[in-house]
Amino acid sequence: MKVHTVLVVGMGKRGMHHAQAFHANPRFRVAGICDIDSARLEAASAKLGQPARGSDAAALARELKPDVFCFCTMPHLRLPMIRAGIEGGASLLAFEKPVTLTSAELFQVRDLIQRAGVRAVVSHQHRYGAHYRKVREIVASGALGRVHTVYGSATGWMTHMLSHLIEYTRWFNGEAPAQWVMASAAGRHKLRDNHPSPDYIAGFVQYAHGVRGIYECGAGAPDQPEVAKWWGKCRMGAQGTEGFAEVLTNGGWRTVNRSGGYQAEEGAMNYDHDTPAYIQEIADWLDDPARVHACNFAGAAQGAEIMLALQQSAARGGQVALPLTEGVDEQALLARHLTEAPVLASCEQNLKEFGLG
Ligand SMILES: NC(=O)c1ccc[n+]([C@@H]2O[C@H](COP(=O)([O-])OP(=O)(O)OC[C@H]3O[C@@H](n4cnc5c(N)ncnc54)[C@H](O)[C@@H]3O)[C@@H](O)[C@H]2O)c1
Repeated sequence: MKVHTVLVVGMGKRGMHHAQAFHANPRFRVAGICDIDSARLEAASAKLGQPARGSDAAALARELKPDVFCFCTMPHLRLPMIRAGIEGGASLLAFEKPVTLTSAELFQVRDLIQRAGVRAVVSHQHRYGAHYRKVREIVASGALGRVHTVYGSATGWMTHMLSHLIEYTRWFNGEAPAQWVMASAAGRHKLRDNHPSPDYIAGFVQYAHGVRGIYECGAGAPDQPEVAKWWGKCRMGAQGTEGFAEVLTNGGWRTVNRSGGYQAEEGAMNYDHDTPAYIQEIADWLDDPARVHACNFAGAAQGAEIMLALQQSAARGGQVALPLTEGVDEQALLARHLTEAPVLASCEQNLKEFGLG
């Protein structure tokens, strides 16, 4: 079977997770690595079989012509990397959430990917965790009766966490399309972060078949006292006519439903467990076009539209219909419309983690 060559761009936290998982998988060979930080590049090289190195992703892609162009750079760097991967002739682009910071960029990225006919995946790899899969299994079994609500909350701020909440609850809900959203937001402190966000955003989504989505992210979101790790205080689940099932990123899963009463089990998000499974599905999809990756771009782009529509609504007010029909700059909208009133936090720890306490 063909061994697929890979160029990994960005040798930070997530880039190293990806590169090491590609390196450990016999279906891939890490042909090149790229970072603008030469010390990081050198340190990474020894762990990855001394691949080709460079600081210019586009030039390295043209030189190496990798089968897979993977980039794990900060959220402001998406479009130029997508271009670099396509111009390097890659068959598959793999990149990190959030998909894009604005719908204007989302539309450009989507057009480029469609026109080039390349496959693309976005790393929402929590879904490989056994506790996430258990919730999906319970919902799909019908044990909750008619599902009427899916929900997600995270204390971490929007550009870090909201795409995760939407992705996994869309999955619980059978990936039904969304029809409209409405949201509100508060707090300007994190607008200048490298994951720029309002300090708190909360909103509703109308999914097809009348299922309600409820999301909140940031300092106003509730504590999850059962979970020790602050970034793991995310709760996502589904409610139906006969029960509920939910996952806590670092707190396992629990359910009450008609077939089993109360059940629960420990579990925590683990990059070392989840990333290799995500990488293996890349090989599966490259080998067989019918084995579409669970984290495929088309699905992630639907989630991104929901996330960006929530921001449009938070900035301008009112409901926003989906699918979006024009690309706008949601970051600029938020910067223009968010008031100076500081966020009201749900607990002391949120204030501390936001640098406000
Ligand atoms: N899926 C997840 O669970 C998860 C978890 C954490 C972070 N992320 C996402 O991963 C992405 C990267 O986050 P991170 O924590 O790995 O960041 P990081 O800062 O640790 O790494 C980013 C790397 O990119 C490099 N870089 C910057 N500009 C570059 C350029 N032009 N060319 C080449 N390299 C460049 C930096 O020098 C740095 O080494 C973000 O979008 C973040 O939201 C996802």
